[in-house]
Amino acid sequence: MKDRSDLNAAAGFAHQSVKHESAHLHVTGRADYTDDLPEPAGTLHAALGLSKIAHGRITTLDLDPVRAAPGVIAVLTADDVPGSNDISPAGHGDAPIFAGPEVMFWGQPLFAVVAETRDLARRAAALARVEYEALPHFLDPIAARDGGMDYVTAPLTLKRGDVRAGMAASPLRLEGRLNVGGQDHFYLEGQIALAVPDAEGMTVFVSTQHPSEVQHMVAHALDVPANQVVVNVRRMGGGFGGKETQMNLFACVAAIAARQLERPVKLRPDRDEDMSATGKRHDFVIDYRAGYDKHGKILAVEGDFHARCGFSADLSGPVTDRALFHADNAYYYPDVELRSHPQRTNTVSNTAFRGFGGPQGVIAAERIIEDIAYALHLDPLEVRKRNLYQNGQLTPYHQTIEDQILPRIFAELEASADYAARRQAVLDFNAKGGVIRRGIAMVPVKFGISFTATFFNQAGALVHLYTDGSIMVNHGGTEMGQGLHTKIAQIVAEAFQIDLSRIRVTRTTTEKVPNTSATAASSGTDLNGMAVLDACDQIKARLLAHFATAKGIAPDQVQFTPGHLRVGDEEIPFADAIRAAYMARVQLWSDGFYATPKIHWDRATGQGRPFYYFAYGAACAEVSVDTLTGEYVIERADVLHDVGRSLNPAIDIGQVEGAFVQGTGWLTSEELWWDAKGQLRTHAPSTYKIPLASDRPKIFNVALADWSVNAERSIKRSKAVGEPPFMLGISVWEAIGHAVASVANYRIAPRLDAPATPERVLMAVERLRS
Ligand code: MTE
Ligand code: HPA
Ligand code: MOS
Repeated sequence: MKDRSDLNAAAGFAHQSVKHESAHLHVTGRADYTDDLPEPAGTLHAALGLSKIAHGRITTLDLDPVRAAPGVIAVLTADDVPGSNDISPAGHGDAPIFAGPEVMFWGQPLFAVVAETRDLARRAAALARVEYEALPHFLDPIAARDGGMDYVTAPLTLKRGDVRAGMAASPLRLEGRLNVGGQDHFYLEGQIALAVPDAEGMTVFVSTQHPSEVQHMVAHALDVPANQVVVNVRRMGGGFGGKETQMNLFACVAAIAARQLERPVKLRPDRDEDMSATGKRHDFVIDYRAGYDKHGKILAVEGDFHARCGFSADLSGPVTDRALFHADNAYYYPDVELRSHPQRTNTVSNTAFRGFGGPQGVIAAERIIEDIAYALHLDPLEVRKRNLYQNGQLTPYHQTIEDQILPRIFAELEASADYAARRQAVLDFNAKGGVIRRGIAMVPVKFGISFTATFFNQAGALVHLYTDGSIMVNHGGTEMGQGLHTKIAQIVAEAFQIDLSRIRVTRTTTEKVPNTSATAASSGTDLNGMAVLDACDQIKARLLAHFATAKGIAPDQVQFTPGHLRVGDEEIPFADAIRAAYMARVQLWSDGFYATPKIHWDRATGQGRPFYYFAYGAACAEVSVDTLTGEYVIERADVLHDVGRSLNPAIDIGQVEGAFVQGTGWLTSEELWWDAKGQLRTHAPSTYKIPLASDRPKIFNVALADWSVNAERSIKRSKAVGEPPFMLGISVWEAIGHAVASVANYRIAPRLDAPATPERVLMAVERLRS
């Protein structure tokens, strides 16, 4: 990746590939995660007692054996919550910390035990005697709908034009059902919280994407004002959306115990408990209908998006909304109606996960394209190109497309991946009729950037310039490995024209920047970067004004130059200039604030401009499939992704690679499986398979569209990168389908459900053969 900075390359300014601020700590094992913090004297350890029924009423809850176990200090139930026993993020009031008497899913927390050690707490928790009266349970969204279960939150409809008329006027029509599985976050660092009480309040160290929400949840649970709770997070070992709301439980339990016992309490569930008790990506059942013409042009689309939301609302409203917002992916639907069905089920409440419902919408669009292509015997890429949005066209939510760049991305990727020749080679290879079949697919993504709840699109920052010329930066975003703090430091280095080594981004804390939004929706850098820049600009303006006045020159005679402040003809080393400004009583620190302009969204009418801009990309994947076993290998993947003017190409490429692999995991090996009684049976790495290093594409070419510039005034004209490339994993899923379809000479659409595990692939091969 070429370095596009015209500034001093050694300094680590924006647009340079500097290393992640903690890379050396990560690889040497010295990076502190919450569990690595020194435990204060007297720290106790909590463990959760989880339900063992999918739906029922507790008839007996005998915790005496737990209390009598060695090392146990206390046992907590709903009766021990001083304030509100509710951690529902949007105030739905449907998510208890401790359940009872009604239990809504297998794995729901019923009580906590606090003991001298974590091991003793876990052993004691297993001794509880719980009896239930079973109630009917519904595990999947269609069963829930047919069983008369309600929605967890209000559904959404997006429509434009007249879908009935459009469908009736279409010369060709198709319909189908697509089942899309969920996904566990499998962050390497699990959920964890350490609550430390003192006479004036509570300090919580927790692995969270949303410190402000933890602050509020803990305050409500303890029945104290928010100003008595401080929440700190230095870094997470991955969040992926799984720590946007899910850590509220762990933070509140630790804090309630800490307050009751007036001792620090740590809660760190093990992997099985973490996977059983925390929400995941929503599984969807999507019923779609499409009208089209003989050229493969889409004329009308109708879709019903049934989501397994779990027992409570959590973020299911915005997640299912975002599925609809992305059910067009990159294609124009002349007449369209899309409906969400956020179904309540007796499973753990599903939550944010990279893409936030978007992937489940995009995959429906790609399934429709694929079905049309197979019906017309066209290359799916041809059908894609014929349906791409043109600038000026409206999305189903009536936002005008203004920044379409996919034609260029497709053209460049087709050339660099040698798509046409390789597709012909795949067809020739399959024509020989062997056991191994190959498949190839090229798939685009268009992803809307902004929180769809407009008010979340704000951020704050606090920048301190010390008299030695070093800078401490704080902002509302959290670091989960994505490189946010690195990019922020680069922005500050460039603002003051000083070396990156002079800048330190400190832990996120509710003490410094209040009322923050979750670090989510890929907008961490967009929002916090702008707020930090605002703070820097205020300090810079004061410095310029001061030196101009002091020397009696015009403000534009004072400039920040690399490592210096130029005042008239004089080059003053940066630290000396700062020291001089301090002596002259210039304020050397500032807050900063940003609110995204232009966006608005009216959910009642289903119209607005929910997204500030779109991020684009495309991937071409080639696979080989063993038609006797259903196993497959990703032979090659080529990705061309749009991050506008990259703030840090090395970090952005890492994000694209990671997202692509996580996206393929979702659609291939990662399968969540509940038994008939509602117990999640894939709750550990032994049964739940995330991609291994050996599962990555054998050839993996990832490039950024380095000519792209954000058409909107984003931070340094970059674009958000965290989530959009996740959906490029769909190329692998469709390539597998292509290989499968070869056994019936491509006459029948493969219609693989997701995840396309080897079993499903084998069943699809058998189905197409018969
Ligand atoms: N990258 C790493 N290494 N770890 C993570 O947990 N989360 C993803 C993405 N990339 C994640 C990640 C998700 S779901 C989001 S929304 C964004 O990072 C959040 O960070 P950002 O807004 O700063 O990009
Ligand atoms: N994306 C991610 N997280 C969110 C969103 C969103 O649009 N809205 C609320 N939390
Ligand atoms: Mo990401 S799912 O918005 O945390």
